[in-house]
Amino acid sequence: MIQIESVSKTFPAKKEAVQAARSITLEVRQGEVVGLLGENGAGKTTLLRMIATLLEPTEGRIAVAGYDTVKQAMEVKKRIGVLFGGETGLYDRLSARENLEYFAMLYGLSAHETKARIDALTVKFGMKDYINRKVGGFSKGMKQKVAIARTLIHDPEVILFDEPTTGLDITSANMFRQLIHQLRGEGKTIIFSSHIMEEIQLLCGSVIMIHKGQMVYNGTLEQLYETEQSKDLNYIMMSRLVRGNAG
Ligand SMILES: Nc1ncnc2c1ncn2[C@@H]1O[C@H](COP(=O)(O)OP(=O)(O)O)[C@@H](O)[C@H]1O
Ligand SMILES: [Mg+2]
Repeated sequence: MIQIESVSKTFPAKKEAVQAARSITLEVRQGEVVGLLGENGAGKTTLLRMIATLLEPTEGRIAVAGYDTVKQAMEVKKRIGVLFGGETGLYDRLSARENLEYFAMLYGLSAHETKARIDALTVKFGMKDYINRKVGGFSKGMKQKVAIARTLIHDPEVILFDEPTTGLDITSANMFRQLIHQLRGEGKTIIFSSHIMEEIQLLCGSVIMIHKGQMVYNGTLEQLYETEQSKDLNYIMMSRLVRGNAG
């Protein structure tokens, strides 16, 4: 479970400070798969980085599984897996296995646990053919799989994906969608940001919409369709952005 209470984030700047999050309050229950929607610069990455303990809120507090992201960051880190789009965070000179072993070590997994987790993830992602090869020569799709495996190495209960399918080819993007579906079946709590409405509609039970740092909707997709009398998420999104909080 994730609890966000009156969270604001201000980035100082020379001219005018940027308010990337404005008094956001919401809760994500265990096992929920939530889509995070918003235009470029809306504050999606900032919100995910704060949940992941990588950035401190200027105001308010966030708790993951009951642990405060600022005061108990280590406890949060143990329970959370994070993948930010674009960066895979892998070492090209190491094999896929060595990369995973390295991250398992950072999380304090035993040698036995590490081997069991890597074996399971290798099967799950079909990486058997290249698990012992150096990551440097991998295709984008192969790297993506290793990066996701890395995110899941410590079997986190909460998973954050920031624009995971942006820049992926169709095959890799579909692989990713199947994986989210699978993780959902395992009862994981997932928040992922995406520009692709179809993806959100396919995978999420609920959505969080943000606009200029402000939350303009948080709730189930079903309820949103009902309220808006439409199932066209692109259209709903645009009209919500125009209306802002008033809607
Ligand atoms: N480290 C930072 N320093 C200053 N401004 C930042 C920083 N990170 C993000 N911002 C600003 O905060 C706003 C929200 O950014 P971001 O969270 O990356 O949006 P999104 O992920 O929705 O595109 C933008 O105006 C962005 O320029
Ligand atoms: Mg972003």
